Amino acid sequence: MKKLAILGSTGSIGRSTLAVVAEHPLEFTVMGLAAGRNVELLAAQIRQFRPRVVSVQDEEAAARLRELLPADKNPELLAGPKGAAAVATAPGADLVVSAMVGAAGLEPTLAAIEAGIPVALANKETLVAAGPLVMAAARKTGVPLLPVDSEHSALMQAMEGQRREDVKKLWLTASGGPFRSWPAEKLARVTPAQALRHPNWDMGAKITIDSATMMNKALEVIEASVLFALPVDRIGVYIHPQSIIHSLVEFVDGSVIAQLGVPDMRLPIAYALTYPRRLPLSGPPLDLGQIAQLTFEEPDLERFPSLSLGYEAARAGGTMPAVLNAANEVAVAAFLAERLSYRGIPRVVAATMEAHAPESLHSLEQVLGVNRWAREHAQNLIARTGAGNSS
Ligand SMILES: NC(=O)c1ccc[n+]([C@@H]2O[C@H](COP(=O)([O-])OP(=O)(O)OC[C@H]3O[C@@H](n4cnc5c(N)ncnc54)[C@H](OP(=O)(O)O)[C@@H]3O)[C@@H](O)[C@H]2O)c1
Repeated sequence: MKKLAILGSTGSIGRSTLAVVAEHPLEFTVMGLAAGRNVELLAAQIRQFRPRVVSVQDEEAAARLRELLPADKNPELLAGPKGAAAVATAPGADLVVSAMVGAAGLEPTLAAIEAGIPVALANKETLVAAGPLVMAAARKTGVPLLPVDSEHSALMQAMEGQRREDVKKLWLTASGGPFRSWPAEKLARVTPAQALRHPNWDMGAKITIDSATMMNKALEVIEASVLFALPVDRIGVYIHPQSIIHSLVEFVDGSVIAQLGVPDMRLPIAYALTYPRRLPLSGPPLDLGQIAQLTFEEPDLERFPSLSLGYEAARAGGTMPAVLNAANEVAVAAFLAERLSYRGIPRVVAATMEAHAPESLHSLEQVLGVNRWAREHAQNLIARTGAGNSS
């Protein structure tokens, strides 16, 4: 039985992970759960999966959770970043599922790696903000980082049994999001409710907005570059509105291997949980006859400038991807709170990147410092009317 610790258990990936666990009760047991503030759902998960240790975002959430749990047979209850790190290093855990959203996932993920525990990684922001540090830590402790992102899982699957030196280029697919065919003028009036309506995937709010701006693909290009040790100029993007081909690998002889599947995150999650074994999963099979057409387009970098910002940040290297990520987190939160326009998001990110002189990456403290600086800078830009706030 594989013993799991799940960071971000109340989120979209966390819930899908627990759905896989519930479907295969003889395969997995849950040692630890970490979440933010949704204590009602967390309490239900505790009752169902009986973890030994649980953590929430802060003491206030911990107090609310305590009231929901019976007085006896409760897990150890922790709070804050230290609590999340304790769940990530839960004694006896065989695998940590890293599925918190944003740079908040960095410290517990690194803690798991440093403790020698393999990680199924959904939290792409960790690799974007601190890729070289995270990969160096994984090399040092020899733990595998198993991608949960469907694109990176697809790339890993397409490269299975292949020689890395035979890989010419990686191609990530992107659905194009809800505004794929919208003209530029219409993008000036996008509302959070429209941006939250993703055509193919049901995901958390932040990644759904990132998909609508294509920043998600920018983060994934950087993630792929870090995970598969390739320069970003050998990573391309195709818009593939059906979300059936999850990514492709082009080899030096011109062969291209793709991985296909229905758009259901339980598939890449289950593959990461039992790699290299595959678990049978319930749900409708892929019916290509029904789908009939798989189409591809080049991304439009003028309407979706966030994608170019990702390439720029990766080429600048060092601390620049952490700045891109932090500024984007702040800008997305401001857009969702209706304090920033949709087109203001890449403007705030670009302006924050412009104000930063990248340094080479050497420590977690440095990344956390840069993250704080970029968040503050982006917040100030948004507060100053007109700085990226206009449509
Ligand atoms: N959703 C997808 O299909 C998908 C696909 C590929 C990759 N990913 C990546 O997976 C990660 C999670 O995405 P998601 O869509 O599952 O996000 P989500 O639904 O928003 O869930 C985020 C989770 O993180 C928790 N959390 C947030 N801030 C926290 C903090 N400071 N301390 C502790 N817990 C915190 C939330 O807790 P509460 O809700 O309890 O507050 C929730 O459990 C992201 O990095 C995303 O890019 C997601």
